[in-house]
This record gives sequence, structure tokens and C-alpha cells, in this order.
Amino acid sequence: MAGMEQQAEAWTTTMRAEQASMDIGAELGPSDPTAYTARKPIPEPSPVDRHGPARIIAMANQKGGVGKTTSTINLGAALAEYGRRVLVVDFDPQGALSVGLGVNPHNMDLSIYNLLMDGDVGIDDILIKTDMAGLHLLPANIDLSAAEIQLVNEVAREMALARVLRPVLREYDYILIDCQPSLGLLAINALTVAHGVMIPLECEFFSLRGVALLLDTIDKVRERLNFDLELEGILATMYDSRTTHCRQVLQRVVEAFGDKVYQTVITKTVKFPESTVAGAPITTLDPASSGARNYRQLAREVIAAHDERLAR
Ligand SMILES: Nc1ncnc2c1ncn2[C@@H]1O[C@H](COP(=O)(O)OP(=O)(O)OP(=O)(O)O)[C@@H](O)[C@H]1O
Ligand SMILES: [Mg+2]
Repeated sequence: MAGMEQQAEAWTTTMRAEQASMDIGAELGPSDPTAYTARKPIPEPSPVDRHGPARIIAMANQKGGVGKTTSTINLGAALAEYGRRVLVVDFDPQGALSVGLGVNPHNMDLSIYNLLMDGDVGIDDILIKTDMAGLHLLPANIDLSAAEIQLVNEVAREMALARVLRPVLREYDYILIDCQPSLGLLAINALTVAHGVMIPLECEFFSLRGVALLLDTIDKVRERLNFDLELEGILATMYDSRTTHCRQVLQRVVEAFGDKVYQTVITKTVKFPESTVAGAPITTLDPASSGARNYRQLAREVIAAHDERLAR
């Protein structure tokens, strides 16, 4: 017995030394992510019989592949499951959000590009009702990349998205905007219309790189274009409890951002790439999976925060 303890201790010492050499400087904590983020119970959302006005949330991080699109789809679907009316906006010329909801970008006659650039196109001309009740989509494809260039010469170029969303603000409870991985004019448009910015952060070594720049950009937009813009929250994604540095990154993120970090942590699972291929949210594809449960809990947190705000 003593031998095993010694062995375990020796192993822990080695692990700690290895982590020290990675220079992240945190002690190795528990593998359960909620040990880092848990603060208070998350209430069950009450049913709603009236809808709107919408809380607009921009899903933003100029770092690529951190889970912006996956979170937009699955948070959107989970909010809709709770009876909320949700509009998800594909604001990335890659069109990954549209594809992830089963819309083929090549078969798209009209997209958000036309809505932004052509005064004759209205939001109802491009709006798609997804298979999930209460979840609607404004689709995008590669055409949107031209808007970034064409908008530069327009009056109020940062307000183009705000202008086109205005007619439907009263119809939805939540509007989620899936930003492209850049801090260009499209992202600024999203930050200008948003009430809050949700920043998905991959639980990975370099995830914090670039976050300072993103926060600076949010500050600038708040000073110049959108005085009430809030940091909605930081969402830790792709958490893998088997890797020690995932835990350390999460610990660091909580140290840096405190209660701005969602209590919900999205675990890493192959179900997400699979659901993209299937063109449906994980919440309908595999309702009992950990990923579906994660996003449902996130939806409860988002609803609770919004209800608190309204009660203030
Ligand atoms: N929790 C997760 N576990 C495993 N894989 C995930 C998870 N979340 C997202 N992925 C996968 O990681 C890849 C990147 O995710 P996603 O497209 O959501 O990121 P993104 O931030 O929108 O990327 P981009 O910056 O290119 O728009 C996708 O293949 C997705 O299926
Ligand atoms: Mg994306």
C-alpha cells in the first residue's frame, strides 16, 4: 500500500515538473471542469407566452476553430427547446452555420449578402425556418465576403446589420450572430448591433492569445458605436478532462475573467464534427449526449442572466 502511495506521489511530482516546464504555472487541479466554474445553482427557465424584444448576442473570437459556429447552432437549438424564439445569423462567408443547419450554400438564391446590399430584398425573402420549431436562420455563403469590401464606402457602414435586423427585433427572444474569425468590418457590424458578446475559448494552450485584442475591440466599439455593449460571457469549449493542460487553461481563464466565465463548460466529443456533417444540432441528433446536455445548461444560464437583467 505504502509502495503505491509512493508511486503515486512520484508520478504527481513528475507531472508537476512537466507542467512547470510548460510554463503555465498552475497547480494541477481536479478533472471535473465544474470544480473551476461552479458558483450558484442554475434555475430551470420558466415558460414564456409572449416573445421579444430580442437579446442580441454576437458569438465572436478572431481565433479560428474555437467553437463559435457549433455554439451558435447548439445554443440556438437549446434555447428553442426551452420555448424561446431564436434567430441565428450566419455572418461568416464560409457559411458553416448554414451548412451545420442543413442548408446547402450552393443552392442559395438569396443570402444575407443580398439583404445587406440590395434595398429590394427584405428579411422574409431570405429567412429560413429550420426543422427545429422556433429556430430560424439567416443564411450566408461566399457572396458575403464581397459585402465587407463594398460596405467600406457606404454611409454608416458599421450599422448595416443593425439596419436589416431592426424589423424583426420584436419577434425573437434571442438573436445569435455567428461571426467569422476576424476583427474586420463584418465583426464590427455584429458588435455594433449586439447587446452582448459571447467569447468561445478553446481549452487549449494558446487560447488566451488574441483575447486582449478582442477585448480592446469590444471597448472601442462600446466607446464609439454601441455604448451599452456588454461582455455576455466567456464560454470554455472543447474541454478534455484527460489532458492536464486543459484543466490548467480553464483554471487560468477563471482566474482572469472570474464570474464572466460560464459555469457550463463544453466538453470535447466527436459528436460535434459528426453533427455538422449531418446538418443538425446535437440536441436533436443525440439528445441525451453530454454535448446536448452542455448546451442545454448553457441555454439555462443565458436565460437566467437575461431574466435577471430584465428584473433589475
Ligand atoms: N466541443 C467540441 N468537441 C469536439 N469538437 C468540436 C467541439 N466544438 C467544435 N468542434 C469541432 O471543431 C471544429 C471547429 O468548430 P467551429 O466550426 O464551431 O469553430 P469556429 O470558431 O466557428 O471556427 P471558424 O473560426 O473557422 O468559424 C469543427 O469541426 C467542430 O465540429
Ligand atoms: Mg465558424
